[in-house]
Amino acid sequence: MQRVHIATYLTSDSGQSGTDTGEVTGDALRELYAYPVEMPRPWVRANFVCSIDGAVSVGGVSGTLGTPADKKVFDTLREAADVVLVGAGTVRAENYGGVRIDADGRQRRIASGLSAVPPIAVVSARAHLDADARLFTDTEVAPIVITCAAADPVRVAALVEAGAHVIRTGGSEITGPEVIAAVEGLGLRRILCEGGPSLFGQLVADDLVDELCLTTAPVLVGGTAGRIATSPHVATVSMTPAHVLADTDGTVLTRWVRLPRP
Ligand SMILES: NC(=O)c1ccc[n+]([C@@H]2O[C@H](COP(=O)([O-])OP(=O)(O)OC[C@H]3O[C@@H](n4cnc5c(N)ncnc54)[C@H](OP(=O)(O)O)[C@@H]3O)[C@@H](O)[C@H]2O)c1
Repeated sequence: MQRVHIATYLTSDSGQSGTDTGEVTGDALRELYAYPVEMPRPWVRANFVCSIDGAVSVGGVSGTLGTPADKKVFDTLREAADVVLVGAGTVRAENYGGVRIDADGRQRRIASGLSAVPPIAVVSARAHLDADARLFTDTEVAPIVITCAAADPVRVAALVEAGAHVIRTGGSEITGPEVIAAVEGLGLRRILCEGGPSLFGQLVADDLVDELCLTTAPVLVGGTAGRIATSPHVATVSMTPAHVLADTDGTVLTRWVRLPRP
């Protein structure tokens, strides 16, 4: 066993003085979270924040768990993605709007061959989304809705009317491989899954997760909030740490990558 030295800071107000604060910013941070250069198949990265005691939300939303360092990484991950994949429960709970990328980020994306702004792709078996919600009204690019044949056609029509690109799979459920195939079919292969626990649990159960970026916020919250993955099926997926970062406020940010498949 070894002690891990992680004196790395992510925010500019780290309070450190001297010439080498160990601060990670800008290009260095983007490099730490770059997608692999070679991607023979889509790369599924998930990003979550939780409390030290494992809660994924406080009062039904995750916002209060966020810290300045978590926000930096959150934005860095969005900038690198082709698509932000999210379950309908999270969209409803968090009132998701479209992704925002600042001017410098757009330039970097376009220079790398990406679109200026990644779309949000929502998974909803029931197509149960409010057509007047921010997902449709506060976005620069059309959201994608992945639903299934059993979804109410009236609801689906309302989402199309609201501007969504709707993809319907067969049957009454949507499997993990169908979710990934839906976005890959649009040429979107750098996948950033922002949850929630049900969608992530399914991707874990289907062994489709390549990477987990997990922020531990320096708080205990108790309560009844669940963990980051929930699924009726248990899976054991071995991961290896790619890096561990810490901020001066106690935020710990880990990046875990799936061990190569045999
Ligand atoms: N701390 C964090 O980083 C973080 C991140 C994300 C979310 N959260 C929290 O997690 C909570 C929401 O949890 P959740 O488990 O309800 O979130 P979720 O996974 O976003 O949503 C579940 C819903 O998404 C749809 N869905 C997900 N997977 C599906 C699949 N494979 N096939 C068909 N539909 C699928 C279904 O929608 P329909 O019912 O419409 O069919 C299902 O009811 C919120 O409190 C949120 O704040 C926390």
